[in-house]
Amino acid sequence: MAFSPDFLEQLRERVSLVDVVSRHVKLQRRGREYVGLSPFKQERTPSFTVVPDKGFFHCFSSGEHGDVIGFLMRLEGLSFPEAVEKLAQAAGLEVPRESPEAAAQARRRRGLLDAVEAAAAFYERQLRLPAGRRAMDYLRGRGLDDNTIASFRLGYAPGDSAALMQALRRGGFEAETLVEAGLFRQREHEGEPGASLRNRVVFPITDRRGRPIAFGGRTLGDAQPKYLNTPETPVFRKGEVLYGLAQARDAAWRVKEVIVVEGYMDAIALSQAGFPHTVASLGTAFGENQLRALWRLVDEPVLCFDGDEAGQRAARRAAERALPLLAPGKSLRFARLPDERDPDDLVRQDGAAALRVVVERAQSPVDLLWSSEAEAVRPDSPDRRARFSRNLLALASGVRDETVRRYYEAEILSRLRERFGVSLQPQPGRRSPQPSIPGGGRERGEARIAALRERQAKGVLAAAINHPELAVEFDREIAELDCAGPLDRLRQEILRLAAGVEGIDAGDWRTHFEEVGLTGAVGGVLCEAVYSLAHFARPNAPTTEAKKGMEQVFAAYRSAAIEREVAAVAETDAEDSLERMPALVMEARRSRAQGGT
Ligand code: UTP
Ligand code: MN
Repeated sequence: MAFSPDFLEQLRERVSLVDVVSRHVKLQRRGREYVGLSPFKQERTPSFTVVPDKGFFHCFSSGEHGDVIGFLMRLEGLSFPEAVEKLAQAAGLEVPRESPEAAAQARRRRGLLDAVEAAAAFYERQLRLPAGRRAMDYLRGRGLDDNTIASFRLGYAPGDSAALMQALRRGGFEAETLVEAGLFRQREHEGEPGASLRNRVVFPITDRRGRPIAFGGRTLGDAQPKYLNTPETPVFRKGEVLYGLAQARDAAWRVKEVIVVEGYMDAIALSQAGFPHTVASLGTAFGENQLRALWRLVDEPVLCFDGDEAGQRAARRAAERALPLLAPGKSLRFARLPDERDPDDLVRQDGAAALRVVVERAQSPVDLLWSSEAEAVRPDSPDRRARFSRNLLALASGVRDETVRRYYEAEILSRLRERFGVSLQPQPGRRSPQPSIPGGGRERGEARIAALRERQAKGVLAAAINHPELAVEFDREIAELDCAGPLDRLRQEILRLAAGVEGIDAGDWRTHFEEVGLTGAVGGVLCEAVYSLAHFARPNAPTTEAKKGMEQVFAAYRSAAIEREVAAVAETDAEDSLERMPALVMEARRSRAQGGT
């Protein structure tokens, strides 16, 4: 069985390497190390070394080295799991086991994924058979080349259900599994379940790692509905999926751009036209989970919805949904397509450059909301202007992040003032007191602050490695830590893994760091020197504690950033600085109260 990295780390922490080795080797202390005669080779002068700080041993005569688990494996000839069990038992640690229910559920999910994969392969084959000829012609007629068809694994679902059923039954799948996987539907009064998709072009929908989890199917003619999806299943939750994400991820991370379109065909056409960083929202409302998944890759996904009224309504709804979630550095933009066209039409008719222009001109949320509200309300009388202002300010007040909310309110108020000459914000009546800015002995303090920053960053990175789910949750904050050199490389790699760019499971992060040459950097953060100053980062600290510790560091960062801004505002004597000052000072106070330094 696989042990969780958390557990292994806890074990290494708990078990004293020196104690374990001492049972077999007589050790003598020499500074920070212990030495003794090699247990692996006959020798007269001791060449066997144990470094307790680092948790490893090294035998200079035999070249063996490793940690406490490795020591036991070599010395007692145990397998890895055996050595782990033995050490855990001696240390009084319980080896966490998958519950039977969890194991059964995992097996069931694997069974469903296998069935969906088998169906995907079947549909792909059908597309290349005579029966799939019309479907293939259809796809080519829509401008897709063979490469694109293959890379999106497009397929054809034949008109009758029997062939798919036969192929999958031959592959060993039970009819029940096929229904549960959404491939077939059990209709009442019918013996055999019927295939969910028939006589349609098939688009496999994949998870983040590219494994098919469901299908969309498009009619070749005018049959309604035009598109049909296989139903939700334990492996397919609609609101969480973005079509094409597995293919788009790498490119998105590289070019720091993601384009979100509405349809399967839009995503595929854009990908072929040189925008491989495109995903589709599948005609469902673009929701919170999808936005968060994209924010792990880029700061501002660009929504490129159809130019028709429905598309514009969808864009507006997406803006309203996104607004409460915005955070400094995490936003989105809205590209407006000309006429009634969709992105696929545009690249086919006017080429990739036309789409590039549309993307470059994408609006900010505030612009989109302002203009769509203006279209809806037409603020051409005092009454309507009042309604218009109230609606916009209400939207702004829904932003949860305080900094973003302030800027939204300020922006809307200033536009209202400019357009309608109405100043809705009470002017600050008096000059606010000069904030005290820490800066005495600035030069001397700077080195100290840099050291403090590095220590904080190391604590956070250690906690992020020991609790990968926190790396995902705090990716934005981690991106803003002050890091340099190898620490910075490690930080970047953590962010890549957290973003799922590599598709590597949390349990395999460590191995990955070693593979990309970050062993040293990892060793520099996962060590007692860091843990002793950042207890929350310890591998055996509960996740809640790790989270709290990270939050405190980030609060400290925030309050430092705000104080820098206050200092900058205080130095400029600009008009508007008077308005911003109280807000900034208050925020600095609040941030300090939350546990910053
Ligand atoms: P569109 O009708 O805009 O699709 O629906 P499209 O991609 O432009 O279609 P064609 O192939 O070029 O004509 C956008 C998305 O909405 C979902 C599908 O996911 C589709 O890709 N949809 C649309 C449905 O689920 N059912 C439908 O009947 C229509
Ligand atoms: Mn279309």
